[in-house]
Amino acid sequence: MSPFPQGGLALIIGAQGGIGQALTRHADQLGQFTQTIGLSRHSNPPLDLLTEASIAEAATHIGQHLKQHEQALRAVIVATGFLHDPTGQPEKSWQQLNAAHMAHSFAVNVIGPALLAKHFLPLLPSDGKAVFAVLSAKVGSIGDNHLGGWYSYRAAKAALNQVVRTASVELKRKKPQALCVAMHPGTVNTDLSAPFAKTGLQVQSPDEAAAALWATLGRLDASSSGQFLNQHGDVLPW
Ligand SMILES: NC(=O)c1ccc[n+]([C@@H]2O[C@H](COP(=O)([O-])OP(=O)(O)OC[C@H]3O[C@@H](n4cnc5c(N)ncnc54)[C@H](OP(=O)(O)O)[C@@H]3O)[C@@H](O)[C@H]2O)c1
Repeated sequence: MSPFPQGGLALIIGAQGGIGQALTRHADQLGQFTQTIGLSRHSNPPLDLLTEASIAEAATHIGQHLKQHEQALRAVIVATGFLHDPTGQPEKSWQQLNAAHMAHSFAVNVIGPALLAKHFLPLLPSDGKAVFAVLSAKVGSIGDNHLGGWYSYRAAKAALNQVVRTASVELKRKKPQALCVAMHPGTVNTDLSAPFAKTGLQVQSPDEAAAALWATLGRLDASSSGQFLNQHGDVLPW
């Protein structure tokens, strides 16, 4: 058990998503943070993963807020992600691979979170526990891939896991008490998963997922940095 130091700021990026909204509500209820701020494409300032300038501006805004309120940034959770939209569905076969869909998946699921690491990891405090957690997906596990399909999403989440692992090595040198992790939230009832809901899958509500994720993040310490974990803290295969 390694609780967050009392006070400080929790930041949810992708705060309008199914899991992001629940993570924001639960952060408020935890009583461990002085404040919770949610950023999204609809917040002020807006944050769009496809535009690095908007990420940089949001990070500057948060940096100024931290100074003004003498707060430490104790938790950043990246709850953004892309699986499907009206123009593209997850591939069932290599015949459905489409360069634009795959590029968009990588832009949102890998490059965007990597740029978030670039602009927000420097804002973590040098002393005491602080967490940068990115929602990944178990289907990004290469070792656990026995079903195939979903090429773009699987490949993007596998690449995201490598970004998190790589950032953890640098973070350890710069802020040894901080940690960054890739987390599978479980199968959660949101717009992202709704078209693929199957009987037999254990589907959680966003509130159940958020409660489990926060409980796990509250237990972790720097020795877990760089890991790929499920919502309960179990280590997943790469
Ligand atoms: N639901 C599941 O069963 C499940 C399972 C495994 C992993 N995950 C992962 O959990 C995370 C959250 O998923 P969710 O189920 O909560 O999905 P969701 O409800 O669709 O939320 C995804 C969020 O990503 C945001 N987003 C997409 N493109 C963006 C961009 N260019 N810039 C900024 N934000 C952008 C969306 O923002 P807008 O609100 O602006 O559209 C949306 O709020 C994702 O990484 C997903 O891969 C989910």
